Amino acid sequence: MFHYSQGKHTTQGHKGIPEGHYEEEMGRKGFSGPVSHLIKPEPSTRWTSIEGPLRPQLFDCVKLPQQWGQWQRLLYNNDVTISYLWEKKTQGTVTKGFRNADGETLYFVHAGKGSVVTDFGLLEFRRGHYIMIPKCVGHTFICEEDTQFLVIESRSSQFREPDRGMVGRNAFYDTEALARPDLQKQIDLKKSKAVNVTEMFVKRKDQQTRFTYSDCVFDAVGWKGDFFPFTLHVDDMMPMLSARVHLPPSAHATFVAHNFVICTFLPRPLESDKDALKVPFYHQNIDYDEVLFYHDGNFFSRDNLHAGMMSFHPAGFPHGPHPKAVQKIDQKTHTDEYAVMIDTWNPLNVDPGFEKTEVKEYWQSWMK
Ligand SMILES: [Fe+2]
Repeated sequence: MFHYSQGKHTTQGHKGIPEGHYEEEMGRKGFSGPVSHLIKPEPSTRWTSIEGPLRPQLFDCVKLPQQWGQWQRLLYNNDVTISYLWEKKTQGTVTKGFRNADGETLYFVHAGKGSVVTDFGLLEFRRGHYIMIPKCVGHTFICEEDTQFLVIESRSSQFREPDRGMVGRNAFYDTEALARPDLQKQIDLKKSKAVNVTEMFVKRKDQQTRFTYSDCVFDAVGWKGDFFPFTLHVDDMMPMLSARVHLPPSAHATFVAHNFVICTFLPRPLESDKDALKVPFYHQNIDYDEVLFYHDGNFFSRDNLHAGMMSFHPAGFPHGPHPKAVQKIDQKTHTDEYAVMIDTWNPLNVDPGFEKTEVKEYWQSWMK
């Protein structure tokens, strides 16, 4: 398709928007495909009512019933499930392990700290860590305090690095920042009797099968290969930005899988050009359902949010920053937010248990 323009328009998206107007982006493939910017006197978030399934939803994971040691499913489709997991501080010897034969498991540590015993060795984690456990890799947690995880399960593909394109291999995060399992540490830990896993629970078709052993199943004394668990911490991610213009969320892509992508939004300086748009642009997420989990900080484009909340914007729902966030942005020089975004190509379903934590008036939060 060729590029064309009519009437009031900008020469650079997200910059120099005519006074008293709003820019709305309509873009395919999460804004990396064909895209147009419409200039409007009012934003498309000025609805007076929304009736039907595209009503945006906000949920509060803080209000989830605390079912310790069990995944609580929040949102799902055939490619991905998003769940929440509470793990109690570990007392005594760890005897139970877990393998996921339904897919890859990516844990994001929302609270707590500890280590993960795996078939390949020990990985340490704290708040802000992603823990990537490949399909069928045995693992179990040793938590030094009560811990909470956002759990993202990829059911139809492996997770892989994002396409780093013109910015090269070291951008956003260097692969050297991925922490590898420490086998010797785990062998030493087993000697201290902290770990003696003789029961392994394997999940397939979301059903558990228990395998019982007479001695510890985590018994590897060495390994080689390119299939193993690892961790990545938000402190080791270097957010990309342009001082002159707002970059799309794809600049923050952390892991990709078949039909969905995970982005991490981190504190960064705001754009410094006077006429640059500093809040995320108004848009219709044409191709992706958008899920945002608010981990920490002040969420600069939204109002009345706290850590542990999750918003769900289905594809086709036009949205953008909240009116109060737009008013306050000129007083800010930095963002101070930590959030995990999951964008899915296929529509997501909401688990009935999660519906109970919904903040019902969320759809009205764009009204002035
Ligand atoms: Fe969005």
